[in-house]
Amino acid sequence: MLTRVLGRIFKQDVATKIKRLKKKRNAVILAHNYQLPEVQDIADYRGDSLELSRIAAKTDAKVIVFCGVHFMAETASILCPDKKVIMPDINAGCPMANMITAADLRRIKKEHPKAVVIGYVNTSAEVKAELDVCCTSTNAVAVVNAFKDKEEIIFVPDKYLADYVSKRTGRKLISWNGFCPTHIKILPEDIKREKRFHPQAKVMVHPECLPAVVALADAVLSTSQMSRFAKETDAKEIIVGTENGVIYRLKKDNPGKEFYPASEAAVCPNMKRTTQEKILWALEELKDEVRVSETIRARARKPIDRMLEII
Ligand code: 13P
Ligand code: SF4
Repeated sequence: MLTRVLGRIFKQDVATKIKRLKKKRNAVILAHNYQLPEVQDIADYRGDSLELSRIAAKTDAKVIVFCGVHFMAETASILCPDKKVIMPDINAGCPMANMITAADLRRIKKEHPKAVVIGYVNTSAEVKAELDVCCTSTNAVAVVNAFKDKEEIIFVPDKYLADYVSKRTGRKLISWNGFCPTHIKILPEDIKREKRFHPQAKVMVHPECLPAVVALADAVLSTSQMSRFAKETDAKEIIVGTENGVIYRLKKDNPGKEFYPASEAAVCPNMKRTTQEKILWALEELKDEVRVSETIRARARKPIDRMLEII
């Protein structure tokens, strides 16, 4: 009991110090929807990849503390070269983003020289530099639809997002063998079991899930689209097929509704590396900074800007 009370006082102390230091440093704290509750609570903005990119592009702050994974902080740095983008834990990477290199993509481009090259935002800056246009899970369908005149479309690195987009647009996509190790842990059996337990519940899943899981869903959505769907639907119970960090926000925003994780195994260890203590240290020392070389930055910026123009 005493340890719990002391723990809470310590956390309050850390939160107060973060708020004070944030003002002094002219910093803004951005947190992805999968972050730990204590990180979501201290953040100025929470959102999905697309929303956080838009916020980063517009902020007046001098320092961006990015609580997410490396490619997200890198995207912020590409959009805001005059700002200092820091990560509380620089080792928070995205295994899917690491599944394709710029050399891999150059090889595919060589095989399909006329193809338009679309890349998921979950890629390194070097890979983005090779793209024609970027996309996120929110706008992938719209981005592919924007290239109706193109015969061939390369879509990397997530083969499951590619499968979903291909089915929604009716376009054949040249894809890569990438995937999210967290989302593939959600199995069709999990959805079927939760549906048996909660027959009235609606099922929403992320498009990074296995196609057999996507096929069982009522809605296929990015993390922030899930927040909107949860608010707008008449359903009082929702089965959630994505990284389980989103459930904290869903419950907070919809106290009258019940949310059930499709699988307890859907936890992204990289998204859980950031804590309030690490945010405080990052603000104290203004590190670790995420910076992209100017040559790569200039090339990687174009596909992101093109995406932001499409949607
Ligand atoms: P969102 O764009 O939906 O936030 O997804 C990012 C991500 O990494 C999903 O695993
Ligand atoms: Fe990458 Fe998957 Fe983690 Fe998202 S949940 S950051 S795609 S590993």
